[in-house]
Amino acid sequence: MLDLVLRNATLPEGRVADLSFQNARLVHIGSAGRSDQEIDCTGLLCIPAATDIHVHMRGGSQSAKEDWRTGSMAALAGGVTMVVDQPNTIPPLLNQERYLERVREAKKDSLCSFAINGGISPGVDPLPLWRAGAMAFGEIFAAPSSYGDALTLEELKQALHEVHAFGAPATIHAEEVSPGTPDSLLAHHHIRSPEGEVRSLQLIRDILPPGMRPHICHISSPASLPVAPGSKEVTPHHLFLSIEQFTPDDTFARVNPPLRPESERQALFAAWDSIDIIASDHAPHTRGEKAVAFADAPSGLPGVETMLPLLMNEVRKGTITLSSVIEKTSVAPCRVLGILPAGFAPDQRHDFAFYPMQAESIRSENLHSRCGWTPYEGMVGVFPELVIQYGEVAYYHSEYAGIPGRYLAGRGYQVGEQIQ
Ligand code: DOR
Ligand code: ZN
Repeated sequence: MLDLVLRNATLPEGRVADLSFQNARLVHIGSAGRSDQEIDCTGLLCIPAATDIHVHMRGGSQSAKEDWRTGSMAALAGGVTMVVDQPNTIPPLLNQERYLERVREAKKDSLCSFAINGGISPGVDPLPLWRAGAMAFGEIFAAPSSYGDALTLEELKQALHEVHAFGAPATIHAEEVSPGTPDSLLAHHHIRSPEGEVRSLQLIRDILPPGMRPHICHISSPASLPVAPGSKEVTPHHLFLSIEQFTPDDTFARVNPPLRPESERQALFAAWDSIDIIASDHAPHTRGEKAVAFADAPSGLPGVETMLPLLMNEVRKGTITLSSVIEKTSVAPCRVLGILPAGFAPDQRHDFAFYPMQAESIRSENLHSRCGWTPYEGMVGVFPELVIQYGEVAYYHSEYAGIPGRYLAGRGYQVGEQIQ
């Protein structure tokens, strides 16, 4: 008797097959025997679940925005089984004690797998965080952002050399900020301009330690793609949202780097093949925090739950290929981090999401982030019906199995006395 059988799933290459699971592993693809737990997956497209390498799960004193429970619920309901949390928490993750506290918080509450990055601050040795299990360092702020102080170029150079010396991945938030306080989305776009993003990336390229391939977060302009060193991340909001879609001073669309004019958004989408990774930069703020003058509003918007639905809708329409979505949301993120990818092979992570390939309207009341709003309200997405995590049902028809998410430590993790 098998533990779990998923009948008649459509695999990425189009074949229809049963998936058999035993001891939380995918053991057979093809006609299955019997199981007490069988799910009819007729008409559902099964793909390796996504790894979102850029989320801000909040928690702690920021729990009114989000915490690990609601953030991981949003992830699973969006076909994401693994997230990488950013260290710009309050207080930031700059020492082992704080880092391990964060891991404990996530272990207690997260329903999806997770890794946690270490923070960078001038004068703070990053090695203890690497030993404590940091997956990577950053996002390192080359420009200030919400809850992130900028490093000077010299400090950034020093930090990149330090983390490269022990072989840790570095992820960089590259922007250039002109003086001024923005009072509209357009002003925000000019203050943190696409040209400034390019200049910032050029400066970063010149200070990299030899051989280092950093990960560049949330590239917002097509002109940045050929300039960026290392792996190139783009967010769903820069692919699907533009300034013209909002009223001029809509704070809910304020994000760093900013949304761009529609023509720029279209050009970024047209550069799809040059993008390595899609990651959400899920950065929820409460409605109350956003309900202030534009100049005072925090930057950031939620996105982990809508990332795959927006992309799968493009696959449904034929704009982008299914294989490119799997590559940019599942394969490449794991390759960049050096972690086991999700997939069908015996030695892979058996995490899958099953999509009905029918479009539905994105409605904030159907989403799970505690912030309770989405910038994609009324747009169309394809949401997964079923999500398998480590060979077990984690989410099915809007219900959660409640299995705790697993923690993945980075390559530098050492079980030492000091971090017990
Ligand atoms: O808009 C943003 N919000 N960009 C960032 O880099 C940080 C984020 C946040 O944490 O709110
Ligand atoms: Zn960022």
